[in-house]
Amino acid sequence: MSTPKGSGVKPVRVHHIREAKEHGERVTMLTAYDLPTARIFDTAGIDMLLVGDSVGDNILGHANTLPVTVDEMIPHVRAVSRGAQRALVIADLPFGSYEASPEQALATAIRMVKEGGANAVKFEGGERVVPQVRAITGAGIPVMGHLGFTPQSENILGGRRVQGRGPAAAERLTKDAVALQEAGAFAVVLEMMPAPVAAQITEVLSISTIGIGAGAACDGQVLVWLDMAGMGDWSPRFAKQYAQLGAALGAAAQEYVAEVKSGAFPAPEQSYLQ
Ligand code: KIV
Repeated sequence: MSTPKGSGVKPVRVHHIREAKEHGERVTMLTAYDLPTARIFDTAGIDMLLVGDSVGDNILGHANTLPVTVDEMIPHVRAVSRGAQRALVIADLPFGSYEASPEQALATAIRMVKEGGANAVKFEGGERVVPQVRAITGAGIPVMGHLGFTPQSENILGGRRVQGRGPAAAERLTKDAVALQEAGAFAVVLEMMPAPVAAQITEVLSISTIGIGAGAACDGQVLVWLDMAGMGDWSPRFAKQYAQLGAALGAAAQEYVAEVKSGAFPAPEQSYLQ
């Protein structure tokens, strides 16, 4: 998926994700919640930007993703869409915005596309959300599934736990993945499951699997950008920190405080002298 950047950029669309699987080429996804990070990741060549409902705990200060509303999500989706020239922008459907019926799910998906400018939507669940996947794809909106540890079900799953351990649980996940594929999903996120289970699902499916804590055999990978960049004081075991931005930002703020207090900032170069 090495599309050149700059003007005349060829945007990534769902058929490119499908073709990447056919060619055995891995795809990349990061979360993004605002315009500056969307621009940086887009220019860096990330294929897909996910405006995750993880905006709730990572940006809005909620304890988890459950309180996030569609109205809270839309401005973030819009900002990321404006910042992405090349990447496919995917909007998460938050808890309570799609489970009740296919009609509810379609109405939410349409808002994400119409008001947010998203190219696709993602939501959690397997066989139970097949009617929703059919309704949304039937209206022309691409759907990405999400299986394994699904944060919106953390109360029933008993917290952040690896899913799919044992043959019966692995079989259930595989069935769910096949059901999503048959309903028309173009890809599926596999979160926190044993690597061999994700490998088996990846082998069985003709659509792409995007792993997060699901091993190296997936067709692509996704990380929450703050985990990837070392922005928080905690990150999950499966996340690799490619930078320590939190520490760098803290040090920059401390230096700024010290220079303002000492009078070193602003210097003549930062002042209008007449
Ligand atoms: O909301 C989110 O950030 C996600 C990813 C963890 C896949 O769903």
